[in-house]
Amino acid sequence: MNEINLLVESYKQTKYQLVGNGGRDVQVLKEALREIEGQQESDMYGKGKIIEDFQAKMATYLGKEDAVFFPSGTMAQQIALRIWCDKKGVKKVAYHPLCHLEIHEEDGLKKLHHIKSILLADKNRVIQLEDVLNIEEDIACLLLELPQREIGGQLPEYQTLEAISSYCREKGIRLHLDGARLFEILPYYKKTAAEICNLFDSVYVSFYKGIGGVAGAILAGDKAFTKETKVWKRRYGGDLISLYPYIVSADYYFEQRAHKMKQYYEDAKELASYFNNCHAVSTRPIVPVSNMFHVHFDVPKEKLESILVNIHKGTDIGLTKYLSETSEQTCFYEISIGDRYAEIPKEELNRVFHLLDEGIRSSLE
Ligand SMILES: Cc1ncc(COP(=O)(O)O)c(C=O)c1O
Repeated sequence: MNEINLLVESYKQTKYQLVGNGGRDVQVLKEALREIEGQQESDMYGKGKIIEDFQAKMATYLGKEDAVFFPSGTMAQQIALRIWCDKKGVKKVAYHPLCHLEIHEEDGLKKLHHIKSILLADKNRVIQLEDVLNIEEDIACLLLELPQREIGGQLPEYQTLEAISSYCREKGIRLHLDGARLFEILPYYKKTAAEICNLFDSVYVSFYKGIGGVAGAILAGDKAFTKETKVWKRRYGGDLISLYPYIVSADYYFEQRAHKMKQYYEDAKELASYFNNCHAVSTRPIVPVSNMFHVHFDVPKEKLESILVNIHKGTDIGLTKYLSETSEQTCFYEISIGDRYAEIPKEELNRVFHLLDEGIRSSLE
C-alpha cells in the first residue's frame, strides 16, 4: 500500500473529521427521501409540482423573477453565458483565470459554443474594479465567482461588487454570478442572497457544496432569460424525465443547512487559527470569509503524509484524506466546514494541533 492509501485508510478509521457534513454515500439520498410520500408525483421533463415549487421557492430566495433546476452547474453556466453572448452578438466573456469554466470543464464553452474567454486579474487574487475597467475588448458577459474557490475562497469587498455591477450595467455588459458557494458567503457580507443577486443579471447556485445534497443547481434570472435556459437545457440533454431525486435532496438539505452557514463560517475562522498557530503552516485566506479555506504547509508532501497518518492513528480525529503537492517542499489541501466540525471535542482538537505542530517541527529539524 502506498502513502496516499495509508492516508486515506487512516482517515477512514477516525471517529471525527474536520471537514464536510458526512460521507457522500447513499444515506444522503435515503435521509432526504425519508419523509417524502411514495405517492408524491415525479416531475416530467421540467414540469410538475415538485420541480415548479422548488424553482419558485429558489426564485424568491434569490430575489429573481424565475429559476430553473439543472442537473449540474457546468451545464447551467455554459448555457447562461451562451445566452448572453447571443443576445449581444458578441462571443466573448470575461472571468478569473481559475474559473471553473476555464479549468474544470474540458473547454466546453469554447468547443461547444466557440466563445472566447478573457482572463482577468492575476490568478492569485480576486477580480477588482480596475481589472474590469481595463478590459479592452467588447464582452457580452462578466462572470464573478464568489467566493473564488481555487484561491482558498477569497472575496472582494462588497463595495467592489456594487461598483463592478453598476459599471457593467452602464456599459451593457451582463453580470453573471457563479454562486456555487453563495449560501456560504452570506454571513461574511451580512447580506441576504437576494441583495447580492440583485447586483447580477443571472445567478447559479449549487446544492451539493455547503448544502450537502446529492447534486444539482439552480440558474435564475428574468423570465426572458429562464425561458431560453429551458430550451438549452433540452438541447444539452439536461431535461431528464425525472430530476426529483436531486430536487428532493436539494430542498431537504437547503432546509437543514442554509441557516447554519454562520456557524460554519465561525468554525472555519476558529479552525484556521488552529492551523496558523502551527509551525510552517498558513491558511489562505488567513482569516476565512466563508466556510472554506486552503491550508498550506511548508513541508514536503511525503513527510506531512506520515505525520498525518500518525495523528489519525493516535487520535480520534481525521484531518484530511489527501494532500496536493505545490512544490518539492510544499503542499496544501482544501477545508470546507460542515456539520462534522462541531461534533469534535475541544480537548481532542487541541491535542491534534499540538501533535501536528510537534510533528512538523521535528520532521524539519
Ligand atoms: C465554483 C464552481 N462553479 C461551478 C461548479 C460546477 O458545478 P457542477 O459540479 O454542478 O457541474 C463547481 C463545482 O465544483 C464549482 O466549484
